[in-house]
Amino acid sequence: MSVGLILAWAVLPYVSIVMLVVGLVWRFRTDQYGWTSRSSQWRESAILRWSSPMFHFGVLFVAMGHVLGLAVPQSMTDALGVSHHAYHLIATVPGSIAGVVTIIGLLGLLYRRIFVKSIRLATTRMDVIAYILLAIPILLGAVATFSTQVFGPDGGYNYRETISVWFRSIPVLSPRPELMVGVPLVFQLHIIAGMLLFCIWPFTRLVHVVSAPVGYFTRPYVVYRSRRPADATQPVPRGW
Ligand code: HEM
Repeated sequence: MSVGLILAWAVLPYVSIVMLVVGLVWRFRTDQYGWTSRSSQWRESAILRWSSPMFHFGVLFVAMGHVLGLAVPQSMTDALGVSHHAYHLIATVPGSIAGVVTIIGLLGLLYRRIFVKSIRLATTRMDVIAYILLAIPILLGAVATFSTQVFGPDGGYNYRETISVWFRSIPVLSPRPELMVGVPLVFQLHIIAGMLLFCIWPFTRLVHVVSAPVGYFTRPYVVYRSRRPADATQPVPRGW
């Protein structure tokens, strides 16, 4: 087995998991007050209003699709009587829609970050790295899905016999890199890009993903108060 194969599919997965977990603990211990998405809503909200929900709901849906496609063994859906063709349709149609919604949202977010001056000036070097390493797996994932599953051969590429089995071999500490040998290159690049994203995750504003907004729908609004004493003494309604 080649060194490249081992590095990509038996070493990088563990490096990315360790960097993600240890990095998040380190960031929490050293920079708890910097644990934020660093919202830029007050700088620009018109584009953010549609692009942010599109990106976030899209990517959440894509993530749920990954859990279904990678964690659930084919034998289980077979046992439930779900044919390969049915699975292919269930995964590809909503997955492709979610991918497109995510990309449109991402383009909106990128547009405002590049073309709205105050946001561009507030963008750090780490933000640029995060955006690049976020955009690459998303675009490669969409290219992989459209080229093999939507416009590819009938029934698409059955990644559940290769990628998904390799994926499940990682947490049980018995990596099977040989399964990735015949996988279409675009999928290989997509997954490597995904693992690189996990490596830098803790050092960027992406940490906010780990703070699940559990109370978000029931908490009161965040209230912004003016510094002017006259305004500050006005009673402020509590939201809902
Ligand atoms: C590192 C582990 C990852 C693996 C093994 C993986 C695997 C896959 C597979 C097998 C598909 C095809 C799904 C289908 O067509 O039914 C896919 C699609 C996709 N992936 Fe990933 N992926 C990984 C990480 C990521 C990450 C980190 C992102 C986003 C930042 C991402 C975004 C996407 C998108 C946007 C699509 C296309 C839309 C979709 O099918 O839902 N992936 N990925």
